[in-house]
Amino acid sequence: MNTLRIDVPHQNFADMQHLAEQIADLVAPRAVVLLNGPLGAGKTTWVQAMCRRLGVRESVTSPTFDLLHIYQAEGLTIYHVDGYRLTQCAEWEVLDLPNPLGVNTVILAEWAEVLRPVYPERLEVTLRLENGGTSRGVMLWGVGPEWTERLRGFTR
Ligand SMILES: Nc1ncnc2c1ncn2[C@@H]1O[C@H](COP(=O)(O)OP(=O)(O)OP(=O)(O)O)[C@@H](O)[C@H]1O
Ligand SMILES: [Mg+2]
Repeated sequence: MNTLRIDVPHQNFADMQHLAEQIADLVAPRAVVLLNGPLGAGKTTWVQAMCRRLGVRESVTSPTFDLLHIYQAEGLTIYHVDGYRLTQCAEWEVLDLPNPLGVNTVILAEWAEVLRPVYPERLEVTLRLENGGTSRGVMLWGVGPEWTERLRGFTR
């Protein structure tokens, strides 16, 4: 499977918002984005920036407790999942995420490594704390031909 990795270090809050917005511009017509990184890494912050860029007007909050939030914006359906509290595969099935993805569908999933085999074509965004938490390093990993191509044309 084609993959492409791009590392973008030293992202303060504003830099990271900008990067997430650039990635949001690449999701059409469909995308799965898995967000990795430790507690407090900035996964929900990243999703908030993407959702705003995609036209979500309501406030985007962490789905840690309700597991899944669904937003409709500009013809897109956006699934924001947080798997932190999901320990069993059966619980993921209850969420009934679209598979295969239809057009105009975007899945943004925190704590969701379990979805890797379900969505072999995906972008993984791995955030790491830097400088005692004042900035973040961002690893973009496109898996599959579509994301490899999208990232290849990506300029910072
Ligand atoms: N690039 C950044 N630079 C500095 N602070 C940031 C950055 N991105 C996010 N933060 C801050 O990090 C904190 C945690 O962010 P967030 O809730 O998005 O993390 P998370 O990875 O979703 O956490 P969890 O694992 O609990 O879901 C917030 O206070 C947020 O403002
Ligand atoms: Mg979160």
